[in-house]
Amino acid sequence: MRKIDIFDTTLRDGEQSAGVNLNTLEKIEIAKQLERLGVDVMEAGFPAASKGDLEAVKLIANTIKNSSVTGLARANEKDIDAAWEALKDSAEPRLHVFIATSAIHMKYKLKMTSEEVVERAVHAVKYAREKFPIVQFSAEDASRSDLSFLARIVSAVIEAGATVVNIPDTVGYSTPAEYGAIFKFLRENVPNIAGVKLSSHCHDDLGMATANTLAAIQNGAEQVEGTINGIGERAGNVALEEVAVALHIRNDYYQASSRLKLSEFKRTSNLVSKLSGMIVPANKAVIGENAFAHESGIHQDGVLKEKTTYEIITPELVGVQSNKLVLGKHSGRHAFKNRAYELGFELSEEKLNAAFVVFKDLADKKKEITDEDLFAILTDKQTES
Ligand code: KIV
Ligand code: ZN
Repeated sequence: MRKIDIFDTTLRDGEQSAGVNLNTLEKIEIAKQLERLGVDVMEAGFPAASKGDLEAVKLIANTIKNSSVTGLARANEKDIDAAWEALKDSAEPRLHVFIATSAIHMKYKLKMTSEEVVERAVHAVKYAREKFPIVQFSAEDASRSDLSFLARIVSAVIEAGATVVNIPDTVGYSTPAEYGAIFKFLRENVPNIAGVKLSSHCHDDLGMATANTLAAIQNGAEQVEGTINGIGERAGNVALEEVAVALHIRNDYYQASSRLKLSEFKRTSNLVSKLSGMIVPANKAVIGENAFAHESGIHQDGVLKEKTTYEIITPELVGVQSNKLVLGKHSGRHAFKNRAYELGFELSEEKLNAAFVVFKDLADKKKEITDEDLFAILTDKQTES
């Protein structure tokens, strides 16, 4: 069974979500929860971005003991020095250095030739390796880069000392087949790649971040980067809970797993949502409020007979107490009777059927029937002669 490293970037790429600004105490609280969740690496911030970011990364690096802590740096000495200042006392100082490699980024953003980009990347990695035992290099916008150029720069940074190479789908442009093929291509065409960890980093602009990440794993990625609840730039990063739970549930297919304590997901999700102010949609996979809720009569009947009819994930797996049978206009007699029993009513079949008719009538007028509604209906029928 392959073990995939989980690299959490909630505190860096996640914090780049529009409108999100976490203070140091909030970051520490999240970092401690990420440690409980068991992430292998957490990216605590971008130390060169501000004094506050540097101090937060430093505090996290000095507090967290069971996950490796890293910080982001552009490929220049000033950024790398700031990251060293923040990370030098951590248990395993690790740098994440990046430069863009796509023609669009090199021409319009960096205004550099590809030759200059390789030179800058190699110098940055060599400079970083004078201090950091572990250096990860990211080729920003890798998925829109020329593949032979990508292979060339990847080989050059490995030669310079990078031991983890990240291949970001920075703008969420790739399809699963394309993204997976990049990993395969690099494994087959970079001569010095043996022993180097390839990492995926997917954004969700076209809603394919989870599929792309899983495709990378199938094609040799040994580390995946993402955030809790999928927060991040624009449409966000890949949601780690989706990737880790997909690996767990479809272990038969992926033959790979993470080391995460999956039962910490709900708590982690709630904390990140509360502190970031980013609300989790109710229908969000794995940790949304409705992820374990059943409304229709057919589904409720199935779940009451045997949970696996409509539940592929147990709520307990991700730290949710139990599933929920929501009573509404689609609900059937089975779920209604079940809830009446749970509320302590033992009515005759005839009275239960009469109560069910009243319930259906009310459900046509109201979105969701509460326990208080049911209590009133059932008490009425119970006391009726
Ligand atoms: O999306 C991206 O390319 C990034 C890099 C800085 C790794 O976040
Ligand atoms: Zn990113």
